[in-house]
Amino acid sequence: MITIHINASKEYDVILKAGVLSEAGRLIREDLSKRYGTTGILRSRRVCVVCDETVGDLYGGEQQTLITSLREAGFDVSRFVFPGGEDHKNMETIERLLDHLTEHRFSRTDLLVALGGGITGDVTGFAAAIYLRGIDFIQIPTTLLAAVDSSVGGKTGVNLPAGKNLAGAFWQPNLVLFDPSVLTTLGQPLLLDGMAEILKAGFIADSTVIYSALMVPWGEDGPPEDAPDPGSSSDSSLYGFLRMGWSGPRPPIFDNPEEMIRLIAKAVDIKRRIVEEDERESGQRKLLNLGHTIGHAIEKCSRYDISHGAAVATGIAIIAKAGQSLDWVREGYADDICAILEYFGYDLSCPYPAFALADVAYNDKKVQGNRISLVIPDYPGHCILKDVPALDLENIIQQGL
Ligand SMILES: NC(=O)c1ccc[n+]([C@@H]2O[C@H](COP(=O)([O-])OP(=O)(O)OC[C@H]3O[C@@H](n4cnc5c(N)ncnc54)[C@H](O)[C@@H]3O)[C@@H](O)[C@H]2O)c1
Repeated sequence: MITIHINASKEYDVILKAGVLSEAGRLIREDLSKRYGTTGILRSRRVCVVCDETVGDLYGGEQQTLITSLREAGFDVSRFVFPGGEDHKNMETIERLLDHLTEHRFSRTDLLVALGGGITGDVTGFAAAIYLRGIDFIQIPTTLLAAVDSSVGGKTGVNLPAGKNLAGAFWQPNLVLFDPSVLTTLGQPLLLDGMAEILKAGFIADSTVIYSALMVPWGEDGPPEDAPDPGSSSDSSLYGFLRMGWSGPRPPIFDNPEEMIRLIAKAVDIKRRIVEEDERESGQRKLLNLGHTIGHAIEKCSRYDISHGAAVATGIAIIAKAGQSLDWVREGYADDICAILEYFGYDLSCPYPAFALADVAYNDKKVQGNRISLVIPDYPGHCILKDVPALDLENIIQQGL
């Protein structure tokens, strides 16, 4: 079991543990008791488990482990199941969820449980933030992306017709419970979606995350100092290793549960550090948007046909290449980033022209006044924020395509 304590406006634990779904009821009760004293035992009789249809069938059924565990801990459990997908991450779903809560007479001391990926977490968290001016909620992530990123940090929200995540609130969960066994039902595209956020964390703050994800033979410290220059085809250089690719059906990290859980914990810890410093994204937290301004634009242009993680990977590659051509990025580093992303199998080609991406990005909430903050990976394990005129965006994107 790995526990990461988050010290934000609300303190909470992220618990990574095989089999934690069967302990969820007890852990939630214990957390309530700690937070509210013995009244925690009496408080929160009602729990609404929110999930999409797929996750509902896999892990959220009436007879399945989670709901059984909640009932055994004395909770009166109802379920709210919605169709899922970005098309349903909207105000209509929020309204339906709020109606469910009023129909089931949820009070301010009851709570919501988000069981699912980032969409379920964002929708549930937002509903929790606004129902009766705010009730408690628990995150139980079931995608890799949700485990390493969206379940931690308290950003919640939904899409508006004009763009992604344009309505929302900062609202921290009481507890995050992740059972790694849920990863076994994720196909490779969904694993890659989460891996994009893990690599993002590594590019932002810690290169050892990249080496752990690659499972390089030299361990977390990466290639030995006397390894041949990047670009060499020797097996002991990073490029040589990347060029060899993987021998099995997919990157080896996905088939190594112990390494995977360590990697997830490292990514969560990076997010913890950043969120603790800047919970409401007035400065350093913007770094977590690496690849996201362009990534969101790609998602929107594709009408959400291209998934979030795949779009973020392409967004990271575009901004790194643009930054390199503008001399904001260490010589050759953008090529390293692209080689690492390609090793995992991301298709980094972008089917949309710069003007279309810039047009969407212009409506992004990251535009303030007429300026936008871009996250530039300037050297390994480090990023900077570049504040540029929003009107320059098209030209900048063009340099990275
Ligand atoms: N709040 C944040 O800080 C934050 C950070 C990053 C991303 N996000 C948001 O997260 C969303 C993307 O998250 P996501 O990729 O998890 O999307 P998602 O919630 O749509 O899940 C992806 C798909 O996986 C299915 N699924 C979930 N768990 C499964 C499992 N264990 N086995 C099989 N299938 C499973 C779901 O039914 C869904 O079809 C985006 O809307 C993005 O904006 C939020």
